[in-house]
Amino acid sequence: MKKAPNLSILLLSLLFLSLPSPSVSERCNPQDKKVLLQIKKALNNPYHLASWNPQNDCCDWYCVECDSTTNRINALTIFSGNISGQIPAAVGDLPYLETLIFRKLTNLTGTIPPAIAKLSLLKMIRLSWTNLSGPVPTFLSQLKNLTFLDLAFNDLTGEIPASLSELPNLDAIHLDRNKLTGKIPDSFGKFSGKVPELYLSHNMLTGEVPKSLGVLDFPRIDFSRNKLVGDVSFLFGPNKSIQIIDLSRNLFEFDLSKVVFPASLTSLDLNHNKITGSLPAGLTALSLQFLNVSYNRLCGQIPTGGKLQDFDYSSYFHNRCLCGAPLPACK
Ligand SMILES: *[C@@H]1O[C@H](CO)[C@@H](O)[C@H](O)[C@H]1NC(C)=O
Ligand SMILES: *[C@@H]1O[C@H](CO)[C@@H](O)[C@H](O)[C@H]1NC(C)=O
Ligand SMILES: *[C@@H]1O[C@H](CO)[C@@H](O)[C@H](O)[C@H]1NC(C)=O
Ligand SMILES: *[C@@H]1O[C@H](CO)[C@@H](O)[C@H](O)[C@H]1NC(C)=O
Ligand SMILES: *[C@@H]1O[C@H](CO)[C@@H](O)[C@H](O)[C@H]1NC(C)=O
Ligand SMILES: *[C@@H]1O[C@H](CO)[C@@H](O)[C@H](O)[C@H]1NC(C)=O
Repeated sequence: MKKAPNLSILLLSLLFLSLPSPSVSERCNPQDKKVLLQIKKALNNPYHLASWNPQNDCCDWYCVECDSTTNRINALTIFSGNISGQIPAAVGDLPYLETLIFRKLTNLTGTIPPAIAKLSLLKMIRLSWTNLSGPVPTFLSQLKNLTFLDLAFNDLTGEIPASLSELPNLDAIHLDRNKLTGKIPDSFGKFSGKVPELYLSHNMLTGEVPKSLGVLDFPRIDFSRNKLVGDVSFLFGPNKSIQIIDLSRNLFEFDLSKVVFPASLTSLDLNHNKITGSLPAGLTALSLQFLNVSYNRLCGQIPTGGKLQDFDYSSYFHNRCLCGAPLPACK
């Protein structure tokens, strides 16, 4: 007589657990679910989001993540799907988002919606390899928790907002492969916190690189394929810890002879500029993995030693009168 009630309670609870009971077992926050369904609708119910079924726990849906303690949606990652339309403004109504990714979606068009400014906890924003147009929004500088900003491979136009330097925690800024114009802002020499990696290549940036950038110690710089002019020798110097510098395919014009390279430098690309002088002997002291100084106006003997003879002639060719191995001997 003692065992019977226990057994029936057990059976009852087994039955109860097997019934669909979203109110008990669902982790998903109902407000987040509502917003995600709005996003799905705004994107015309794409097949890519077929798992976004209101019957199921949204924490189990494809392309999203829930925080393990709050159960709020903290990541929205839409990558490489057949998605057409614009970034829905409803994205701004997921207040716990830390990661927002729309990537490799060639049919994603329109501008970056202002609603994103509401996402104060965002750490990573990656809207890249899409067809987004319009400006790099100034409101991004309000997102103080951002550590990673990637808007590369889009059709963005206009100038780089000076206020991006107000972001104190950035590890990297990727604005490469857009149609950005104007100058690199002077404020990029005054990042208020961390000094980020700067990727600004393949745009239409003009003017001189502000001298202020020489004061900071950037871990990596890629300014290649723009229309930048003038002297950028201030980006180098013995006390920097920069590892990778790509200044290729611009209109830079300075004397390389007196430049002192930091010991940290592993990759230097200066090809297609108007750089004069000779290669400084200090280059032989570096642990270079990549070097390209081709298509400049350099002269004199390539210093012997270090890694310099490990690179083939195409690292050095098309200069005014550079000579010595791996180029033909000096006369
Ligand atoms: C993408 O979706 C559209 C409309 O649903 C369809 O016509 C097209 O074939 C799809 N493209 C690919 C690459 O799946
Ligand atoms: C983009 O949209 C066009 C037109 O609807 C469609 O044919 C194409 O398959 C889409 N491509 C992708 C990758 O979604
Ligand atoms: C998106 O970009 C690709 C390559 O940049 C281009 O070929 C395509 O026509 C664009 N699609 C739309 C819908 O703008
Ligand atoms: C993120 O933002 C919140 C609120 O603004 C702040 O309390 C927190 O310290 C920030 N975290 C980081 C890593 O900056
Ligand atoms: C590099 O650092 C040394 C030691 O701190 C200092 O004496 C020197 O002036 C610095 N050189 C430059 C170019 O900043
Ligand atoms: C150096 O750059 C030139 C010009 O873009 C290119 O032709 C050559 O192959 C490059 N060489 C190396 C080793 O990168």
